[in-house]
Amino acid sequence: MNLILLGPPGSGKGTQARMLTEKHGLPQLSTGDMLRAAISAGTPVGLRAKDIMARGELVSDDVVDAIVADRIAKPDCAEGFVLDGYPRTLAQADALDRMLAKDGKRLNGVIELRVDDEELIRRIAGRYTCGKCGEGYHDTLKSPRVAGKCDKCGSTEFKRRPDDNAEAVRTRLMTYYRETSPLIGFYHKSGNRHVLDGMLPIDAVSLGLEALLAHLN
Ligand code: AP5
Repeated sequence: MNLILLGPPGSGKGTQARMLTEKHGLPQLSTGDMLRAAISAGTPVGLRAKDIMARGELVSDDVVDAIVADRIAKPDCAEGFVLDGYPRTLAQADALDRMLAKDGKRLNGVIELRVDDEELIRRIAGRYTCGKCGEGYHDTLKSPRVAGKCDKCGSTEFKRRPDDNAEAVRTRLMTYYRETSPLIGFYHKSGNRHVLDGMLPIDAVSLGLEALLAHLN
């Protein structure tokens, strides 16, 4: 099954994509994670993307299209995948259509996660992760059981995303409404769009998603 999770920053795309991977074995294709890995590795793509991402702007279409085309061609995507954070512009949506058509594939569903702006900001501000295993925490919503020590792996190193500051979050939200929200109409027109209430607790969103998947073909 080939799925897209569509929604603003902090709407829960990554959280739900990881749950789909655990439950259905569908690989999570997060362009944000792929770009962050390129930055860590110091590749030419990473060097191009670093400052753009820190400001909360979009990396150019040609760069992300190429990353996704490479990733979709990998054997683990043969039975399906979950796109998390791609496409983000109408040009990327067109590019994805061409990539899928070339391989005789199609989209099974585009799931839009709807969340109020105040809640998005609350979720993103204060978010941090374990520097070793990536377990997620939040200053007020979820602290480690033992202060300063990761519940999962015991590491005492934590990190924050450089684009999780107030100014970059404002830019990321504006960019979503300007560049990405037109995709809602695009996929509504193609009949692929389904909407979930992303304000619900994580497990409730996941249940809604599972119910939806049961009806997709
Ligand atoms: P990316 O990494 O994709 O970030 P984003 O879209 O801003 O999304 P986030 O990862 O912040 O949020 P999410 O929706 O995944 O929510 P999450 O599950 O983490 O992109 C980063 C940057 O890379 C972009 O700004 C851009 O520069 C570049 N980029 C990436 N893709 C690109 C593309 N296609 N084209 C061009 N540039 C691109 O949840 C957030 C928090 O909320 C977590 O703490 C989580 O625990 C919590 N949470 C989740 N769900 C719930 C819930 N239901 N209730 C309560 N808390 C919840």
